Amino acid sequence: MIITGKYPNLRLRRNRKSDWSRRLVQENNLSINDLILPIFLIDGKNKKIPIKSMHGVYRYSINKLGTILDKAINKKIPMVALFPYTNPKIKDNFGTEALNENNLVCQAIKYIKKRYKNNIGIMCDVALDPYTSHGHDGILKKNIILNDETVSILTEQALLQAQMGCDVIAPSDMMDGRIKSIRNKLDKNNLHSVQILSYAVKYASSFYGPFRDAVGSKKLLKGNKKTYQMDFRNKNEALREVALDIKEGADMVMVKPGMPYLDIIRSVKDKFKIPVMAYQVSGEYSLIQNGIKKKIIDDKSIFESLMSFKRAGASAIVTYFADSLNFNLLD
Ligand code: PBG
Repeated sequence: MIITGKYPNLRLRRNRKSDWSRRLVQENNLSINDLILPIFLIDGKNKKIPIKSMHGVYRYSINKLGTILDKAINKKIPMVALFPYTNPKIKDNFGTEALNENNLVCQAIKYIKKRYKNNIGIMCDVALDPYTSHGHDGILKKNIILNDETVSILTEQALLQAQMGCDVIAPSDMMDGRIKSIRNKLDKNNLHSVQILSYAVKYASSFYGPFRDAVGSKKLLKGNKKTYQMDFRNKNEALREVALDIKEGADMVMVKPGMPYLDIIRSVKDKFKIPVMAYQVSGEYSLIQNGIKKKIIDDKSIFESLMSFKRAGASAIVTYFADSLNFNLLD
């Protein structure tokens, strides 16, 4: 029970009277340890290509990854998340390129692990949307995304990524049963220590627009993802998704998008006590970034947005701001 006094004896402003006092009573904080940096990959050489809808975010060719990885490791960012922009010519109905052991993600994992060893974690998305000609996360047949057929392919994709050296497998596809299938496969192949971060709660969201642009699936996408991603009206269903994925073997869970779903993060954390990651997605990033660029808001707003995830109970945040934060602004 909270016992409160009464004005004028009780004045909550007393604790806020000066900087040192405010620092003493801080309830939450943010550090570089809380951040995961997404990186977009592109084929070719010497490329660092700006993404139009995401000011300050680029696609890197493999031989240019050093520039962003050096920066990330210098700043002590714990983990990067890799996303490929696949040449449209090699996309097909089945996302075959996802299982190519020489695809962009595999090349990037090998490059990073060789150069940087275990100084930074690598997380990889398990889903087919960067590889399919229809932009869906799974196999599309007669307007239906096939669940079990997709899970078999995703399981192979996860195994391949893990064999290349990926540390954290992150299925973002929202198919039923994929966590169990992936965990079994990894264990059978002696990859017991590879972690699974399940995008357990992923909503069908308009905030993914700039990301789809970045991986080149936006124009290709046929219809929407509502038959597998969640309805944003629902909360109990989110808890059921998390319960299932924990049972199937998830080590951590993700809630995505971020800021419109802080209530979900809090409920998942309270109920399951598992590490919960938040994804501040591309649309959220671009809204804030454009606001700063147009001087509608200032750059301290970035910290305000990130702290909301900490308050809600997130262990870490996937954010496109991770490499450019100036912690001196956090006063
Ligand atoms: C695809 C995937 C998406 C994102 C991460 N993985 C988009 C989607 O589901 O359409 C979105 C990330 C972002 O918007 O920053 N499986």
